[in-house]
Amino acid sequence: AKDALRVLVTGAAGQIGYALVPMIARGAMLGPDQPVILHMLDIPPAAESLNGVKMELVDAAFPLLKGVLATTDAVEACTGVNVAVMVGGFPRKEGMERKDVMSKNVSIYKAQASALEKHAAANCKVLVVANPANTNALILKEFAPSIPEKNITCLTRLDHNRALGQISERLNVHVGSVKNVVIWGNHSSTQYPDVNHATVVTQGGEKSVRELVANDQWLNGEFITTVQQRGAAIIKARKLSSALSAASSACDHIRDWVLGTPKDTWVSMGVYSDGSYGVPPGLIYSYPVTCEKGEWSIVQGLKIDEFSRAKLDATANELVEEKTLAYSCLS
Ligand code: NAI
Repeated sequence: AKDALRVLVTGAAGQIGYALVPMIARGAMLGPDQPVILHMLDIPPAAESLNGVKMELVDAAFPLLKGVLATTDAVEACTGVNVAVMVGGFPRKEGMERKDVMSKNVSIYKAQASALEKHAAANCKVLVVANPANTNALILKEFAPSIPEKNITCLTRLDHNRALGQISERLNVHVGSVKNVVIWGNHSSTQYPDVNHATVVTQGGEKSVRELVANDQWLNGEFITTVQQRGAAIIKARKLSSALSAASSACDHIRDWVLGTPKDTWVSMGVYSDGSYGVPPGLIYSYPVTCEKGEWSIVQGLKIDEFSRAKLDATANELVEEKTLAYSCLS
């Protein structure tokens, strides 16, 4: 039998945490034959609630779950972890400026970067979910210089899955037959959901989404804004943010990263930019990637038309601004 892997979930007493930990304990993240030990971190005001989550995990009697740690101590939480899913953060409250939210979160990510760097297992893979996800991941990377930059990513898989979902609904085909959409850039409303390379697998072979939809006005307009604004639409409907789909996408992100993407299929991940596609290096930017043997690589050589170019640049510019703001909060 395989040795158990230790998975850290920060903010585990929150909404996403509550949806995510049972998925991990059922094998949705690391596979149905991989035992796991959950490390759950939250802050002292949430300690009692966190302990309640631990009680439920015990009660659920998951066969793959070999242990549960619930703690408010970041060092204890980070010790020996193989995978770190960073969901904990400070939410935007009424009347708060963007800078205030940024300031709270970058200081959390700076502190947790040090705890991970010193105490996580070698080669720990990190996924940042908490917003501003790309910039929190960048701060984590900058303040954990001994963690390889390829090990630090942020979640845009939810946006990717939302784009697949919209195409599937529009064409009335199963979502599993749609592939190779791309989310470029920031996990924010400037993200660019791109269908120019997307296809649907049909009995007659793969067909281009653009040809099948045959409505460029919808693809260049409402489709893009629906995906960009989906988070807000869920909050409006549920009065709570999208926790189920965020948790499920976080599992997809880690599973594909660790176990590999299917043949001829790519997914979107926020990764450290090397300058590919004319994006400034040194940002955490969402790209199309394929994964093999636990390593992602950016899909190269996709044709970028003028419409897309402007959108790739706009979301990169927002990330440059966020980076500047983040550093001004830290100094
Ligand atoms: P939530 O407010 O229900 O949970 C956040 C949890 O983090 C709380 O339990 C809080 O006590 C904890 N926390 C705060 N500071 C912490 C710290 N320093 N260390 C550890 N834990 C800490 O929020 P929810 O709905 O679970 O969302 C979590 C984050 O995920 C938010 O930032 C949200 O904006 C983001 N998000 C990101 C998505 C993505 O696709 N990247 C999608 C949906 C949400």
